[in-house]
Amino acid sequence: MADDPFALFDAWFAEARAAEPNDAEAMALATADADGRPSVRMVLLKGHGPDGFDFYTNFDSRKGGELAANPQAALLFHWKSLRRQVRIEGPVDLLPAATADSYFATRGRDSQLGAWASDQSRPLADRETFEARYDTMRDRFAGEDVPRPPRWGCFRVIPERIEFWSDRPHRLHERRLFTRAAGGWTEGLLYP
Ligand SMILES: Cc1cc2nc3c(=O)[nH]c(=O)nc-3n(C[C@H](O)[C@H](O)[C@H](O)COP(=O)(O)O)c2cc1C
Repeated sequence: MADDPFALFDAWFAEARAAEPNDAEAMALATADADGRPSVRMVLLKGHGPDGFDFYTNFDSRKGGELAANPQAALLFHWKSLRRQVRIEGPVDLLPAATADSYFATRGRDSQLGAWASDQSRPLADRETFEARYDTMRDRFAGEDVPRPPRWGCFRVIPERIEFWSDRPHRLHERRLFTRAAGGWTEGLLYP
């Protein structure tokens, strides 16, 4: 059996990009607080490979706080058009500031300013307050490059388990589970 889940992920991801009407890179990110209470939300995959699966966010968001307290996560892709899911689990690392700086510089100016304006996951009195903060940031950085907000950056989920699930007729679905082992990956099948 194959021993490289990353080649398989690349193949499925390429098919998803061709097949999905939007956001093939959208994935659910599950975290848990220090007491083990779970929470989940969507984020966008911004880089991936054998070293891990990367996303960007605000460190002071709910997910950021949970990852600081409990640096473990699970990711889930569901490509509906292909009737496939991929589940990824493992510890989480914060990548160096330089990585976040490089990516932030590629974002559109609106989303750069949005990152400054958003106090992600904190209570917001009304929409106007957010828009006013956006305008304040637009004026603050007028005529210059927008720097990366210091509390915004890149997390990497380092996979220990990767499961590929695909729909099969009569609910005889296929589940291929890759598990990190010393010196490589082992593959097995799971009952659906
Ligand atoms: C398709 C989609 C993609 C998203 N991508 C991101 C992302 O890459 N980073 C991010 O911080 N929030 C992203 N969000 C917003 C999050 O789902 C969430 O609302 C926000 O990060 C706050 O989550 P938290 O309060 O659990 O920290 C995305 C939402 C959707 C629906």
